Parts: sequence; structure tokens; C-alpha cells
Amino acid sequence: MADKSMLALGIESSCDETAAAVVELPGRILSNVVHGQVEVHERYGGVVPELASRAHARHVQPVIAAALTQAGVTPGDLDCVAVTIGPGLIGGLLTGLAAAKGFALGAGLPLVGVHHMEGHLLSPFLDAGQPGFDFPFVALLVSGGHTLLLHARAFGEYLPLGQTRDDAVGEAFDKGARLLGLGYPGGPAIARLAEGGDPAAVHFPRALPEKKELDFSFSGLKTALRTFLARHPQGGIPPRDVAASYQEAIVDVLTSKSLAACRAVGERRLVVAGGVGANTRLREVIRARAAGAGIEVCFPSLALCTDNGAMIALAGLRRWRAGERGGVELDALARWPVERLLREKQPNA
Ligand code: KG4
Ligand code: ZN
Repeated sequence: MADKSMLALGIESSCDETAAAVVELPGRILSNVVHGQVEVHERYGGVVPELASRAHARHVQPVIAAALTQAGVTPGDLDCVAVTIGPGLIGGLLTGLAAAKGFALGAGLPLVGVHHMEGHLLSPFLDAGQPGFDFPFVALLVSGGHTLLLHARAFGEYLPLGQTRDDAVGEAFDKGARLLGLGYPGGPAIARLAEGGDPAAVHFPRALPEKKELDFSFSGLKTALRTFLARHPQGGIPPRDVAASYQEAIVDVLTSKSLAACRAVGERRLVVAGGVGANTRLREVIRARAAGAGIEVCFPSLALCTDNGAMIALAGLRRWRAGERGGVELDALARWPVERLLREKQPNA
């Protein structure tokens, strides 16, 4: 018997995107509406949590309505409502959760709470994705708040291999951009400036060599950029070369550690997801070096790297299919270590 189609509404509001989407298993996107907040935060050079919460509160209802209309579905067509419950900015999370609860109660639907990073992890499986690509794999999850290497053995079974000891890689881009006098968000701004720049013009440090460590550290890199700019106040080296070199230090470390992680656990498949996964140079370098090592790499499409509701809908659908149900008791978690989401036991330990 063919599977009845299973549909979820996914709601995301953990940072600075108010997003809602309708997705059908195994990963077909029927609609994907994202309302960004760049104009709210850009004059401050970073996300202001209070302003983010207010913007989510203003936009969450219209975004949900647009997602349903664009998908051509009514609440009665849905099987569940998936919502990001953490980790993230608590005001935004609570706003999305309250909207999700109201919607689910009104429509008589079950609610499924989703870990934001599980959403990113599954984002390459949305839409056509990469046919045939499945668990197990190594995942590099790189966003504004996280830098994580996981061994994703199966759905819901993710073994942490490495993470950042200080700044997340997205923060390294955002803080670096501020030092370079560029706008917010910093990642795309550095990437744009770096186009055509010489990535070997300045040697920035690569912390924690991968031979010993799968953890990351980016705070020293930011300090190195600050020191470099203080020593070269009048330029001399074109800004595009500085940006390209800074970006290259990040890309080099992410690539080396991802490949080392694949070697460490004997996987030949790598998923790279999260906002920084949209970086063109990272996609280029990882693809080239992975091909040389016989490793297949899977990225989400560019639009699905940054925060969206579709990835939350898919994670919710998979948890719903696995029997998870939530209701009005669901709470938001500003901090939610990925380890607590997971079955921690290593099958072979
Ligand atoms: O996943 P995401 O949208 O939100 C979080 O969960 O944090 O990631 C946002 C981060 C920001 O730090 C942003 O600067 C970075 O992703 N980012 C990029 C690019 N696009 C977004 N970093 C480097 N290159 C890009 N093209
Ligand atoms: Zn994210």
C-alpha cells in the first residue's frame, strides 16, 4: 500500500528569520516563506534580541498564512505542526512556539518540538536534494551559533565528534566583518569583498591542528585580524586580499577537520549545512578536497543553508513518524546541547 502523504507546517523563529513552510515526506517543499530582519538589525551591526522578538511577533502570523496559501493547503490537510523550540534567542523561540501552539490547538493537530540543528542537519534532504544520499554520514553544521561535527549514524543518532571551544564560525565571519567595517550579516559581506582577492596574501592562524583535534577555536583568528588591522592602518594590502585571506583561514580549518572526521569514523559521505554552508569558497574547497579523498559531499541548496521553516517541518515530520507527539506543555530552551537531543549510547562502545 502506498504511503499516505504526510504533511507538516514548520515554524522557525530562533534568531533573525521568521519562517514558515509546508513540507511533505520524504522532503518535498510545497511552500517556504522567510521574512528576514536585516533592516531591523543592520544599523546595530548584529542581532538585537529584543527587536528580533518584536519583529517575530509582528510577522509570524502573516508568514504562517502565506505558507499555507502558497502551498494550497488548509489546516485540515496537515498531520502535525513542527516548531523550533531551541536552541536560540528565547524571545523569538517563545513567539514562534506560542504561534505554533495556538495554530495546533485551533486545528486539533499534534505539535512536535524541533532542535534547530537537527533541522539544519536534514536540510540537504529537502526537495530533490541528492538522490541516494542517506544516513550514515559525517555532518559539519556551521551557523551563527554553532560549529559542530557530528557522526550521524541514523536519524536521531548523532555522535558529537567536535565543536567550537569559543566563537561559532558564523560569529568569526560576523565579528571579522565588523573589524573590516563591513555590514551585517558579516558572512555574505566578507564573501563579497573576498571575490577576486588573493587568499594567500596574509597568513592567518589555523587553530588546533586536525591531527590532534576535531574541536575548533575561532577567537584567536578574530584577534589576529584585529592585530593585523592595527599594524596596517593605512592599508597597503588591498581589503579584498585581507578578506580573502581571513575567509581562507576559516575554510581551510573547516575542510581539514571535516575530512579528518570522515577518516576518524570511516565514513565516505559528508553533509555540510547551516548558514555558513552558503559560502561559495567553502563549497568549492570542500568539494575539491573531498573528491581527492574519495568522499562524497552533500550541501543543501543555497536558499536552504540559512534559517528556514522547511528544514524544521522535515525534522518535525520525521520525529512525528517516529512517534513523537507534543502539546501545550512544550517549552522553549535557549540552550540545548545537541548531546541531550540524542541517544548518547554508542552502539559499539
Ligand atoms: O544558520 P543561520 O542562518 O542562523 C543560525 O542558526 O545562526 O546562520 C547565520 C550565519 C551568520 O553568521 C552569517 O554571517 C553566516 O551564517 N552566513 C555566511 C554566509 N551566509 C550566511 N557565512 C559565510 N558566507 C556566506 N555566504
Ligand atoms: Zn540556523
